[in-house]
Formats: sequence, C-alpha cells, structure tokens
Amino acid sequence: MAKRITPNSEYDPFARIYNRHWGVAYRTEAFPIVQRLLLSRLKEGSAVLDVCCGTGQFTEQVRQQGFEMAGIDSSSEMIAFARQNAPEVNLAVADARSFALGRKFAAAYSVFESLNHVPDLEGLHLAFRCVRKHLKRGAPFLFDLNREEAFILYWNTIDALVEDESVLVLRMDYDDQTRVGECRMTAFEKDRNWVRKDFTIRQTCHDHDEVEGTLRDAGFNDVTRYDARDAGMAGDAGYARTFFLATG
Ligand SMILES: C[S@@+](CC[C@H](N)C(=O)[O-])C[C@H]1O[C@@H](n2cnc3c(N)ncnc32)[C@H](O)[C@@H]1O
Repeated sequence: MAKRITPNSEYDPFARIYNRHWGVAYRTEAFPIVQRLLLSRLKEGSAVLDVCCGTGQFTEQVRQQGFEMAGIDSSSEMIAFARQNAPEVNLAVADARSFALGRKFAAAYSVFESLNHVPDLEGLHLAFRCVRKHLKRGAPFLFDLNREEAFILYWNTIDALVEDESVLVLRMDYDDQTRVGECRMTAFEKDRNWVRKDFTIRQTCHDHDEVEGTLRDAGFNDVTRYDARDAGMAGDAGYARTFFLATG
C-alpha cells in the first residue's frame, strides 16, 4: 500500500515573517539562472509550474516574463500570502510528494533549496515522480539543493531579527551524523499584547549522487548539475549550492 504522506506545514507559523523579510537576495541572484537555464528554452506563454512556491514572489517574477504560472506549496499560510503577491497565478495547497493538478506543463522548477525540506530519498522519489507526471514529454525541470558545506556554515548559527513590533530569534544546528539541519525559531509579535510562537524548520542534506540516481529512477533524463557560483551567483546565497536540470 502507498505510504501516507503527512503534508509539511512547518512554514505556517513562519509565513508572515518570511513574506516580509526572506529571499530578496536569493531571488535577485537566482532569477537570472532560472531564466538562462530554464525559461530561455520555452516559448512565450508556456505553462510553468513552481513546486514549493512559498509566498509567490519568485512565481510572480516568472509570470511577468510572459509565462502562464501555477504554484503548489504544502503550507496554507505561505499560499495565503502567495495569493496576495501573485493574484493571477493558479495556486494550490499541496505537498510536492503527492499532488495531482490534472494537467501538464512545459517546464517546472523548485527554487531556494525547497526540496532540502523533503526528509528522505523516498520522499524525493515521490516528488520527482509527481513533477514528471505533470510535465510534457522532454520538458525541463530545474531545482537547487544545498550541499553539506552550506549546512556547516549557515546551519550552525544563532541569529535575530528585531523590529518594533516583532522579534525573531533563530537557533540553528546541523547534525553531520543524521545530516539534518534544525532551525528552532522563537517569534514575538505584537498584536495588542506580545504573543510568543515557537516552531522548528528542518532541512536534510541529501547526497547529490543519490539525488541524481533518484531523478533517473523517477524517469528523468539528461541530468546536468551546475554549481551556483559557476552559474553566476556571486553572493552568499550561491555558496555550496547545486542546481539540477533534468528533462522529463
Ligand atoms: C525556503 S522556502 C522557498 C519558497 C519559495 N520557493 C521561494 O523561493 O521563496 C521553502 C518552501 O517549501 C515549502 N515546502 C517544504 N516542504 C514541502 C513539501 N513537501 N511540499 C510542498 N512544499 C513544501 C515550504 O512550505 C516553503 O514554502
């Protein structure tokens, strides 16, 4: 019997802060790569799927290049912001490992290490199979994953974001035995009173040879890996990041 997937809703309590503060530097650096490796291969108006689209700013940026966009994300709170940021995009709350939109796309992508949130290769296999089912024959799929050096550098820190009406404290630990990075966050937000929320977001450091094997097992071909720095991401976001491009 197929394994039952529990949708990953870890981003729900993070969505408001994410929407306000996260991803600007990443988007600025990653967008030209997505444009060059993926969008430049497509006809204007092609249908493109954003897998794990989050709060939708990247999706909207792609839409503005003349594509017909759809996006899925397993966090209903992230999708609620995406509906505001990308009102013309077809959006659905759905897990990457078990979605069915009933249509096919000319391309798909999943950016900002979203698939590091899938905790095991079995889950990646399910996600790749789902994405492939939604692609036309020979259509490209692009995604990026952090490598272990990125976990060691970025996932072993303590950080804070302080505003007048909100404070976020992040405590991050990467365990090189389990290869899991945990970011424990405590947020204080002022409504009438200060309200405290504690939540955790996890990423898994996947072995990239195994990821490539899993892509092929799920039916993808022509897998090419690009180091983000070599592909043009010169800033911090490009450190120890790999883009995978494959065709369905
Ligand atoms: C780092 S954010 C990136 C969001 C967006 N791609 C961006 O560039 O801003 C990771 C996103 O992946 C989503 N996510 C994590 N696991 C998921 C899963 N199994 N299925 C669908 N979405 C997932 C989270 O809810 C979150 O919105």
